[in-house]
Amino acid sequence: MHLWLKALHLIAMVAWFAALFYMFRLFVYHAENRDDPRTAETLKLMAEKLYRIIGTPAMVATWVFGLAMLVSVPAFLSAPWLQAKLVLLVGLTGYHGYVGRVKARFAADDVYLDSRQCRIRNEIPTLFLIGIVLLAVLRPAG
Ligand code: HEM
Repeated sequence: MHLWLKALHLIAMVAWFAALFYMFRLFVYHAENRDDPRTAETLKLMAEKLYRIIGTPAMVATWVFGLAMLVSVPAFLSAPWLQAKLVLLVGLTGYHGYVGRVKARFAADDVYLDSRQCRIRNEIPTLFLIGIVLLAVLRPAG
């Protein structure tokens, strides 16, 4: 059962990151096409669907399967790697919420970021991915 939870956890995590990696890429295109209403409308729709249909459900599933593993093996909670991972997960979940707020502003034609600012923000999930996977796999002892 636990291994099933872990497999589902990793599948959900990959789907979550697929969405996170692409949201700011869509905002880059939107910022570069802010004067082209047809393209902007298409990009708004893509961002909305990616966030609502893939990103948020995958985030919830990652949390649910991760927390289910903590229920099945409570000893993980006293491991320093897991505690550090939880700190990064709170940050990553906050980033997910931030992406949603940018999406809402762009959807309202408030394109307040330029494409370079969007590109820089698009690197943030990579940093979280590296940190979280290194903690989960290498499990450094505190
Ligand atoms: C969202 C809340 C999350 C919770 C509560 C959580 C919790 C856990 C727990 C308890 C394990 C240990 C399972 C085991 O070894 O039996 C685990 C494994 C793992 N988690 Fe998460 N996790 C979360 C999110 C993530 C995210 C976002 C990533 C990737 C960026 C991730 C990557 C991994 C990996 C790669 C493993 C497997 C490590 C291994 O077996 O070597 N987790 N997670």
